[in-house]
Amino acid sequence: MVLERVKTGIEGLDKMLNGGIPARRHVALYGGPGCGKTSFGFEYIYRGAKAGENGVYITLEETPDEILDNMRNTFPMMSDVDSLMEENKMEIAKPDKLGIEGVAEILEDRIVNNEAKRVVIDSLTIVKVMTRDIADYRQTLFEFLSLLRNLDCTTITTVEASKISKESVEYEIEHFVMDGIINLYNLDRGDKRIRALEIFKMRGTKHSRDLVPFKVTPSGIKVYVGEKVF
Ligand SMILES: Nc1ncnc2c1ncn2[C@@H]1O[C@H](COP(=O)(O)OP(=O)(O)OP(=O)(O)O)[C@@H](O)[C@H]1O
Ligand SMILES: [Mg+2]
Repeated sequence: MVLERVKTGIEGLDKMLNGGIPARRHVALYGGPGCGKTSFGFEYIYRGAKAGENGVYITLEETPDEILDNMRNTFPMMSDVDSLMEENKMEIAKPDKLGIEGVAEILEDRIVNNEAKRVVIDSLTIVKVMTRDIADYRQTLFEFLSLLRNLDCTTITTVEASKISKESVEYEIEHFVMDGIINLYNLDRGDKRIRALEIFKMRGTKHSRDLVPFKVTPSGIKVYVGEKVF
């Protein structure tokens, strides 16, 4: 049987994923501040909306207007984002309840009533901060994953990484429970920083294991597959 895949639509990334994210899998997008997590997630939803797959972008910290303003400035090519939202092909939503309960309400509604197939949750960090201790966080993550596994959607959840370097990956609970992990880096190259990414794991598919450079450009994110990071 051919594995069903969801093409992210991000230039270069689907090639690294051997075609896309396996459908109904749940991927964590890790990165430090300003690494490009929000831009990545937003482009995933936007490309889906353009390709006929409805999506919902759930923001847990910034307001939907802030996200939209920033993304319009980052990606001037997304001039049709308003009409895609009017046609209910994509949506930016902020739950009014804190924690995974609020996320669950939005997802259950949009997946049933609007056939949303792509979901971004930005970011998991607020959920983590709200938990009392590591055991509580483990329990919350477990509930979060069970919720996602019961829904017909392919998700990208952003996670803020405070310490992230290619040499010393600190294993967190999310590393074990999520189906896939993509790491974004802002590498220090002396007088400048270079953006790079790697697919750290992706259950059920072959994928690139290279660290590759990427850029956030006005016409979208570009992942330079086959190029080396200098
Ligand atoms: N049009 C653009 N061209 C090039 N780079 C851009 C453009 N717009 C934004 N950027 C870069 O992208 C970065 C922001 O990316 P983004 O907001 O997606 O990161 P993030 O990982 O979500 O950050 P945070 O941790 O603050 O949530 C900016 O800091 C800026 O360096
Ligand atoms: Mg962000």
